[in-house]
Amino acid sequence: MSILRIRCSPRGLASESYRLSQRIVDRLTHTGPADGLDIVEFDATTLAHADSDYAAALAAPADPAHDVLGRGSLKASARLIQMLADASHIVLATPMHNFTVPSSLKSWLDHVVRVRSTFRITPQGNKVGVLEDRPVYVAISSGGAFSGDEARQPDFLTPYLRHVLATIGLRQVTFVSVEGTARGPALLEAARERAEAAIEGISFAAQQPEMSV
Ligand SMILES: Cc1cc2nc3c(=O)[nH]c(=O)nc-3n(C[C@H](O)[C@H](O)[C@H](O)COP(=O)(O)O)c2cc1C
Repeated sequence: MSILRIRCSPRGLASESYRLSQRIVDRLTHTGPADGLDIVEFDATTLAHADSDYAAALAAPADPAHDVLGRGSLKASARLIQMLADASHIVLATPMHNFTVPSSLKSWLDHVVRVRSTFRITPQGNKVGVLEDRPVYVAISSGGAFSGDEARQPDFLTPYLRHVLATIGLRQVTFVSVEGTARGPALLEAARERAEAAIEGISFAAQQPEMSV
């Protein structure tokens, strides 16, 4: 059992979303059910876009030969899916970019949402998740507000992530956000305090992994 944290900001360890994700990790490791667990870190900004072998494999009725599976995006995908399968808790640290997920997180999703691996398609054409469910915490940072009365922009980030994670079987998703980082230090501090209060209010005990590891 381990916590897998995916970092998605170009600002890396200095990012607001990483800072927020650390509060979640602290709660999980100090007072929550993940007490004492290892933290596995992955920087999604290092990922390339899905390559042509990967696109061909996903469109084909079966996986390609072993030599093709061992290179490029197919190889990266296998590693990233294994990391997901091994984790009992997942933390995504992400900014909002153009009303949705940044391209780094989209690339990570393109590598882990994979037919015949993390979801299957029924004869009727429905996608059914294959991963065992486990808690996912999403720490979001945005320049402006996207929720509540002060929202002045659409939110294509949280509904999209909820849908795409459910597609592979991950349904226990909790969002926490620091919104309005571009609105000056006082409003940023207030947004941080609201986010930290929201984290305090999460009932981690109610969100246990459903994995049998
Ligand atoms: C390419 C790009 C697009 C952005 N698009 C949005 C946006 O649509 N809405 C928003 O509120 N902020 C947007 N921002 C601002 C970031 O969300 C904001 O600076 C956030 O705090 C960055 O978090 P980070 O420190 O975790 O990277 C954008 C920033 C960048 C670099």
